[in-house]
Order: sequence, then C-alpha cells, then structure tokens
Amino acid sequence: MTSFRHFLQFSDFSADDYQHLFERIRVIKQRFKRYEPYLPLTDRTLAMVFEKASTRTRVSFEAGMYQMGGSVIHLTTGDSQLGRAEPIEDTARVISRMVDIVMIRTFEQSKIERFAAHSRVPVINGLTNEYHPCQILADIFTFIEQRGSISGRTVAWIGDSNNVCYTWLQAAAVLGFKVHISTPPGYEVEPARAAALGTTHYREFADPLEACRGADLVTTDVWTSMGYEAENEARLKAFANWCVDERLMGVAKPDALFMHCLPAHRGEEVSAAVLDGPQSVVWDEAENRLHVQKALLEFLLLGRVLE
Ligand code: CP
Ligand code: NVA
Repeated sequence: MTSFRHFLQFSDFSADDYQHLFERIRVIKQRFKRYEPYLPLTDRTLAMVFEKASTRTRVSFEAGMYQMGGSVIHLTTGDSQLGRAEPIEDTARVISRMVDIVMIRTFEQSKIERFAAHSRVPVINGLTNEYHPCQILADIFTFIEQRGSISGRTVAWIGDSNNVCYTWLQAAAVLGFKVHISTPPGYEVEPARAAALGTTHYREFADPLEACRGADLVTTDVWTSMGYEAENEARLKAFANWCVDERLMGVAKPDALFMHCLPAHRGEEVSAAVLDGPQSVVWDEAENRLHVQKALLEFLLLGRVLE
C-alpha cells in the first residue's frame, strides 16, 4: 500500500518539512504572480467537508486546487449524510475511495482523527475546536516574507486561548520561537494541554501590555470562536481589556507586525487603527492562505517536489 501523510496538527510535520514547504510556497507564489501555469494536479480531486462556516479556507483550497489543474467537491453537514448521522468512519471509507485528498473543517479534533484513521488518502485539518494548522503555516510564511526567520523571535498572543493560540504553541515548539500569551482570568491555556507541547516555548502574562512588550509579532483572534456562540455575552464582558490597540502595539518592537487570521471585529479584539494601520499585514496573511494551500496539496499528493 502507498504510504501517505495527514496534516491534522502543526506537529505532524518536522522543522525540515517546514523548510521545504516555505521554499515551495515562495516558488508557487512567484509563479502565480507571473501568471505562469503550474498544473501538477491534473485529474486529482479534493473533497472539502465544512461543518462550520468559511470564507478564506474554502476559497483558498478551491481556487488553489483549480489553479493546479485539479477539481474540488464541496460538502457541508446540511447537504450530505453527515447531517443525518452517518458515522464519520463510514463517510471516510467512502469519500476516500473516490477522491485523492480530503480537507475537513469540523468541531472536535477527535472527529478528524477518526476520519483520518479510516481514510485511504491524506486528510488536512481546515480548523477544529483544538487547532488551525493551515492558518499558522500561512502566518509564519507571512512573517518570514516580511522579517526573515521566525526562529528565536517572540510572538505575543492576546485574547482567547483558542484553536489558533494552541497552534501557535505547537509551532513554537517545532520551529523554535517564543509565545507570550495574555488571556482574561478563566480563559488561560490549559496546563495539561500546554505541558504536552513543551513548557519552554511560552509564558503567560496577566497584563496584555506586558505580553506585547518587545514582541516581533502581535496577534489575536475573535473572542468567541465558532461553536462557542452561547458564551458570547459573558466573553464580551470578560475580554473588554484585551483589545489590541495602539497602546499595546506601542510597547512591541518598533517594526513589529500585527496579524489576525480573520474574520475580525474592529473595536473588539482589535482596534480599527491597528487592523487598518501600517503594522498590519492581515491582507497579505489572508492572500498567503492560497499559496500555502497549494504547496500543502503538492506536498501531500506529490511529496517533495524539487525543481
Ligand atoms: N481564517 C480563516 O480560516 O478564515 P475562514 O473562517 O474564512 O476560512
Ligand atoms: N478561532 C476562530 C477562527 C476562525 C478562522 C474560530 O474557530 O471560529
């Protein structure tokens, strides 16, 4: 049987895999900017399963697959038998006999792991409650493009210790940088989960200003992630002092970047002045999702392309 890999969490790939990917993202992006066709995935099909809403992840995977000569099938809970309780294992067995690669956005990480365990083809995590590895791959590529290697740098994470935050923690352990986290009381990183990621790579701060001090990159995300909408009102109150504004950016390094995976809420987790300001690279970050997904699809379907 042919061997293949999944991308279910950031720690599934090594630092060496990421060095290869960063170079391939750069090449694929340059080629795209020059309007040079690159069609290595002709006759390949990607199935995308969305159990939560998406704009960037859907468009980047779908456009990326078509741009590389492949095709895409888009499924949601509502328009597939997943919404009528067909077991995830059976869904995996069936879909993976018909397509070459699968991307899933769902709730529990255990669900995507169960799918992958019964899949004959590579599975990509397009976001779960626990992780968002494609996003952090795009964020780190964006940092490298703007500032060079992320190794040894400091990333300030302000707000909720959510899926994006935990993926930063995993990435810090793989690529060797630090994460300074500030969350409101009650929303801290879970010690047991963090312990499994390696304790030397992050530090928690009660005051968001202290987390941002001297940082190379300041980043945040929505206060209420998809699936947690019932907590929205309580979170609005708890997170009120965790807005990334000019005061917080002012204590980071003078050339610090601001990133946000988007969608953003101006006036909640980030001020309009920061999101739309000179240190913000959120639109490059969003565009890079496209180039990243293409390099990821190439890597999982064709291995290490060297040219
Ligand atoms: N950042 C991100 O994953 O965006 P979407 O939810 O729009 O896919
Ligand atoms: N943390 C957010 C990210 C959205 C891209 C969520 O899970 O809803």
